[in-house]
Amino acid sequence: MKFFIDTANLDQIREAQELGILDGVTTNPSLMAKEGVKGKEAIFQHYKAICDIVDGDVSAEVFATDYEGMVREGEELLKIDPKITVKLPCTKDGIKAVKYFSDRGEKTNCTLVFSVGQALLAAKAGAKYVSPFIGRLDDISSDGVGLVREIAGVYRYYGYKTMVLAASVRHTRHIIQCLEAGADVATCPLKAILGLLNHPLTDKGLATFVSDANKMME
Ligand code: G3P
Repeated sequence: MKFFIDTANLDQIREAQELGILDGVTTNPSLMAKEGVKGKEAIFQHYKAICDIVDGDVSAEVFATDYEGMVREGEELLKIDPKITVKLPCTKDGIKAVKYFSDRGEKTNCTLVFSVGQALLAAKAGAKYVSPFIGRLDDISSDGVGLVREIAGVYRYYGYKTMVLAASVRHTRHIIQCLEAGADVATCPLKAILGLLNHPLTDKGLATFVSDANKMME
């Protein structure tokens, strides 16, 4: 399973990249707004800065909600860097735009996916990634990881190439559940990724090793 980081924060992206485990980045308008980026030029520069840090796909989401607007914006985003993946909402116009870009060999990420039916349309339109939002489904007492498992099963059975990118991952346990459910990618907050390292026996064992090493060097 690939690891993407779900943020537009350059320091966090750099930290994950330096860890050596990062395969890509996903952003959305809310994450970009959180970084205080304002105006088209600054937004484009910020995407470029992200692309310069990471080795891998960088999802940049269109702001438009109509087909023509999505195509226009997507074309502009693609000029920023070859790593850019156009992120499009899973709506009627969004699916048309996914098809437009996939027909031209461009990478797309179909986002805001909450059902197998939506994931099916994204795959048929040729999306490189489909993004089921697992945390938001859990928020309404639904089963986010269950949806990842269902989509992954359907894609494998029918041979769709679209990758299941589990999004709205909220915590470390979600990452393990995504692995078990067959996600191709999990896009995660840095805190959730670093949480994978936490184990009291590692801390305890290391403290003993350090103490014994020090004794030998006295
Ligand atoms: O990857 C989608 C993500 O940014 C949304 O996460 O926590 O707002 O549901 P959240």
